[in-house]
Amino acid sequence: MEEITIKKNKVPAIGLGTWLLSGDECVKCVEHALGLGYRHIDTAQIYENEKQIGKAIKKSSVSRGEIFLVDKISTSNFSYDDAIKSTEESLDNFQTDYVDLLLMHWPNNSVPLEETLDAMNELKESGKAKNIGLSNFPPSLMLKAAEKIKIFCNQIEYHPYLSQDTLIRQSKRMKYIITAYCPIAKGRVLKDGNIREIADRYEKSPVQITLRWLFQQGVATIPKSADFDHMKENIEIFDFELSRDDMKIISSLEMDLHLDPVSYLASD
Ligand SMILES: NC(=O)c1ccc[n+]([C@@H]2O[C@H](COP(=O)([O-])OP(=O)(O)OC[C@H]3O[C@@H](n4cnc5c(N)ncnc54)[C@H](OP(=O)(O)O)[C@@H]3O)[C@@H](O)[C@H]2O)c1
Repeated sequence: MEEITIKKNKVPAIGLGTWLLSGDECVKCVEHALGLGYRHIDTAQIYENEKQIGKAIKKSSVSRGEIFLVDKISTSNFSYDDAIKSTEESLDNFQTDYVDLLLMHWPNNSVPLEETLDAMNELKESGKAKNIGLSNFPPSLMLKAAEKIKIFCNQIEYHPYLSQDTLIRQSKRMKYIITAYCPIAKGRVLKDGNIREIADRYEKSPVQITLRWLFQQGVATIPKSADFDHMKENIEIFDFELSRDDMKIISSLEMDLHLDPVSYLASD
């Protein structure tokens, strides 16, 4: 699996999104994805599938050290004590000693940002989170967070119908990684005439074209799939390259479309 690298920060370029994966289906999907070569799994406390992901990792033939496991603290756990306690509970659920990346799920001013960031620093120092970062954070709050923590990543909604130019420019300046969620716009790219036309020319699927467009911008992505064929297709994007013109055509599809209710928080 290719990686996205900024300075010493590294993450497998494609991860498996697991929102709405639950029960045995979640265990099967994560185990299958690991067998296919996925080495990056994205979840969150509110997805309520940490136990299933832990079980899948144990069942798989891939060692824990090879997997980049991402978790997000729920906004209801943003107080110092709750952030620590809930992360320890998450680790129990996963049956692991650490997550590779721990994020604040989205900004919420019911608890001062500094308080949650102090807890995240403590979790990093104790080795329970190898790296820490944010999700759905606008540029101004990224600057504020950078005063307290070494930011690994901002996970944000990003796909051809939503420009994230400001945050991408900032990520290059501040040297943090952008991870795109809803990267294929929840499947909308499949019906897009422009993307289909490009896909036909490269003999790839519209989803592969879209994931490649993100990869070529140095952005990590976490498409969700419960379909084994789709999972395989989604990591087969490293054997072709989109031309500059085709990259531009895809970028021009931007229409400020937010598919996730919290994603608008990421703009100032
Ligand atoms: N940080 C946050 O606030 C936040 C918010 C939303 C999401 N996320 C994370 O981002 C992940 C991805 O976002 P998402 O699940 O909302 O949207 P998405 O990945 O853009 O789209 C998922 C949809 O696309 C379909 N799909 C996947 N691969 C396909 C393929 N090759 N061909 C056809 N259809 C395909 C899936 O169906 P099948 O299952 O049938 O393949 C599913 O219906 C989530 O699972 C979650 O981990 C984070």
